[in-house]
Amino acid sequence: MPKVRIVFDRVRLEEKMLEQKSIELGHDTKMIDAKTTQFTTESKKNNYDFGDVVLERCVSYFRGLHFTAALEFLDIPVINRTEVANNCGNKMLTSLLLKKHNVPTPKTYFTFSSEAAIETLEKDGYPLVIKPIIGSWGRGVVPLRNRETADAIIEVRELNDGPLDRIYYLQEVVERPPRDIRAISVGDQLIAAMYRTSTGGFKTNIALGAEPIACEITKELEDICMKASRAVGGGILGIDVMEDEKRGFVVHEVNNTVEFKGLAKVAKRNIPKEMIDYAISYAKR
Ligand SMILES: Nc1ncnc2c1ncn2[C@@H]1O[C@H](COP(=O)(O)OP(=O)(O)O)[C@@H](O)[C@H]1O
Ligand SMILES: [Mg+2]
Repeated sequence: MPKVRIVFDRVRLEEKMLEQKSIELGHDTKMIDAKTTQFTTESKKNNYDFGDVVLERCVSYFRGLHFTAALEFLDIPVINRTEVANNCGNKMLTSLLLKKHNVPTPKTYFTFSSEAAIETLEKDGYPLVIKPIIGSWGRGVVPLRNRETADAIIEVRELNDGPLDRIYYLQEVVERPPRDIRAISVGDQLIAAMYRTSTGGFKTNIALGAEPIACEITKELEDICMKASRAVGGGILGIDVMEDEKRGFVVHEVNNTVEFKGLAKVAKRNIPKEMIDYAISYAKR
């Protein structure tokens, strides 16, 4: 009987759905709390009960990333791999990889000081969207429409002065309908997609109240999403796509620990089942 382990730090609906589905499919299933697990350089695989495959589902990005590195040290198959988590967790690395692999993506500017960021804005013009290179749920994603807003956001960054505050990620504002697309790729398949329609604001995150509406998986959508998945290294991924009025689809980010409770309501396929089946085949590969 295959052994599936789900590593969590907080149990959301998604983790409950994955656990339930795995049990339902007849697999030996356990939940493992990342917060109470300990590792050393002497740790061996058989000191633990990590089973045949681990789904890393921590809400905290850094916790999940480092936990994954420890699992890989023990030669445990884990989804997603450390390299993939690192590529997706950092929007700058994601943008570079997308472009490098010819995945259509918004034009993005990177600078490494507030002075250079202001220079970019003054030169290339407003508006540009500023994003923290690590973050989710739309937090800190702000369209900068004039010098005054830019100065305010940059001043807050200077005051915080965290290690990531010096990396300025500025992106063209994509002309799109007031919605975007979230798709989920599992291995080499695009299994589900939805439109997320904004409730009035700039951002379309479900975490901010956007309404999930079923979206047909066309060949075109599948192609761009699977290309994006391959660009970051593959696995189980949440791909964010915008519909640019001129260029068509552009991918603006790829998410490592994908939330799917919104999408599960409108998807035709059973998302947790697809994820568990993939984990089992990944363990056997
Ligand atoms: N370049 C852009 N142009 C227009 N809207 C954008 C742009 N970038 C992000 N958005 C909006 O902001 C939301 C959050 O941005 P995103 O890059 O996905 O960050 P997060 O990781 O916080 O979800 C997107 O879902 C989209 O609605
Ligand atoms: Mg997003």
